[in-house]
Amino acid sequence: MKLNFVTQILESIVHELDAKLVLEPHFRFGGYIEFNNGVRTYYVESAFDINGMGAARLARDKGYTNHFLQSFGFSIPEYQTFPNHVLDKYITSEKSGFDRGREYCVRLGFPIIIKPNDGTKGSDVYKLNSIEEYNHIGKLVFDKNRVVMLQRFVTGNDYRIVVFNNKVVCAYQRIGLQLVGDGESTIWQLLNAKKLIEKLNLEDPRITTKLESYNLTMDSILEKDISIRLLDVNNLSLGGTAIDKSQVISKYFRDIAIQATHQMGLDFCGVDIMTQAIEESDCDYNIIEINSSPGQGNFARLGKEQEQIVKDLYKEILLTIKERKSYSR
Ligand SMILES: Nc1ncnc2c1ncn2[C@@H]1O[C@H](COP(=O)(O)OP(=O)(O)O)[C@@H](O)[C@H]1O
Ligand SMILES: [Mg+2]
Repeated sequence: MKLNFVTQILESIVHELDAKLVLEPHFRFGGYIEFNNGVRTYYVESAFDINGMGAARLARDKGYTNHFLQSFGFSIPEYQTFPNHVLDKYITSEKSGFDRGREYCVRLGFPIIIKPNDGTKGSDVYKLNSIEEYNHIGKLVFDKNRVVMLQRFVTGNDYRIVVFNNKVVCAYQRIGLQLVGDGESTIWQLLNAKKLIEKLNLEDPRITTKLESYNLTMDSILEKDISIRLLDVNNLSLGGTAIDKSQVISKYFRDIAIQATHQMGLDFCGVDIMTQAIEESDCDYNIIEINSSPGQGNFARLGKEQEQIVKDLYKEILLTIKERKSYSR
């Protein structure tokens, strides 16, 4: 059975911690680590007992997170959240959340990002270019999600900065799904070569609309050296690529990530920032979201050095939990 990335890493480090790993046997996506002094800590996927439950839960709510980040002086893209039809009845407004959302789009101006208020992995995140797209795609997003966020579309490169214990562990740029033609392969074959056929939904309207805009289909041959973006979102889980920026991130952005993590009550956090270049200082930026259990798989797969950084991170996290739990017994 294919092992969850975190489980694989834990299997390779527990002996160094003089601990044992006990997995739930069917999926092996979670379990517990027991240290030699009897202290036990559970994990599932990439979530550990490291952040407080309230802060971790709040970080999953993009509206709450944006509110507090802004109140502490961090830059975030202008946004508003709207209830869908399920919640409308609890809100004292004559207009539905969907209709108020449409008015907000007109005030803000397109393009606009629409996303679930508590989504992950880029699912249901769309760039909307017009009221027609809001009426059509927006409706689909409102139908599926109880609270929807509409947000100003900001430009720049997309970075993830991982913070633990007031230090930056690593930083990397994320570039959304992109294909480069070789003059022979079809779009489908290029996706297949990247092992993305099963990972992606080929009927994803974001991908089909992009292909249409280039006048291409899955069966079209992409010309040699022509590069096309297939998604506006930069999530690595949707076929994006990562570039390590740990060595070049400026002190300015290190401090922003460390401070955002601290102010939001977290010890371990992935801070997602869009800006022109993470090497620069005193420049405009926007925090897009914070993640209280950031997955490290895509970064670790960049190479041996990155894998070691991730192993050391998990060791440090586990030893911190051990120390805290031993102390409180
Ligand atoms: N306001 C925005 N402007 C431009 N791009 C955005 C904006 N919000 C999100 N994105 C893009 O969409 C991706 C997914 O959005 P995000 O809010 O991080 O949702 P998720 O939690 O599903 O990852 C981001 O990584 C970024 O590439
Ligand atoms: Mg994200």
